Amino acid sequence: MLQLTADSADDATLEEIDAIASAAFGLPRFSAREELRRPWTRCWVAREAQRALAFLIAWHVVDELHVLNIATCPTALRRGLATGLMQQSLEYARQEHVRLVLLEVRRSNRAAIGLYRKLGFTVTGVRPRYYSDNDEDAVEMALTLDPATGAAQPGRDEIRIEL
Ligand SMILES: CC(C)(COP(=O)(O)OP(=O)(O)OC[C@H]1O[C@@H](n2cnc3c(N)ncnc32)[C@H](O)[C@@H]1OP(=O)(O)O)[C@@H](O)C(=O)NCCC(=O)NCCS
Repeated sequence: MLQLTADSADDATLEEIDAIASAAFGLPRFSAREELRRPWTRCWVAREAQRALAFLIAWHVVDELHVLNIATCPTALRRGLATGLMQQSLEYARQEHVRLVLLEVRRSNRAAIGLYRKLGFTVTGVRPRYYSDNDEDAVEMALTLDPATGAAQPGRDEIRIEL
């Protein structure tokens, strides 16, 4: 696992990230380079044999870390790569005394919701028809950390979602 910055990212890795985004989300115009230009963007990459296989992009603003994108190359799914990236971002959050890690996920995305639940995230809300491409609801999930110790605070779903 590697944390990328605008300075440390090489062209080949950035292109690999764009290709993973394209394959995973169907986002042909996704640009890791653009994402990394924002000073508050944080990016982690899982590599194997010099090849990027998964990435995570988050925004760190004050005491919150907002996970925007996480994706694994379709040929490397279910090998724990996304879990490893999330754990890296949570370790960063602890070091930076982040209080809240939050994200949105499509209601139909069982794989991602399963991933986040395994890490202790709980459901905090639903944004109806948040995704304009298909009017799908966003499920809001969060993990609260103790900013002093980094310990994850136990939480439970604030609303019930039918999957
Ligand atoms: C969601 C995603 C990132 C998971 O990546 P991954 O590297 O395969 O995840 P992991 O191997 O670390 O899996 C961790 C857990 O997630 C859940 N999970 C992952 N894939 C799953 C699937 N197809 N069905 C059900 N649960 C799944 C499981 O709980 C899994 O733990 P387990 O293997 O011990 O059962 C990947 O499926 C992906 O890239 N999807 C497309 C992009 C996307 O939807 N991103 C999230 C929204 S931004």
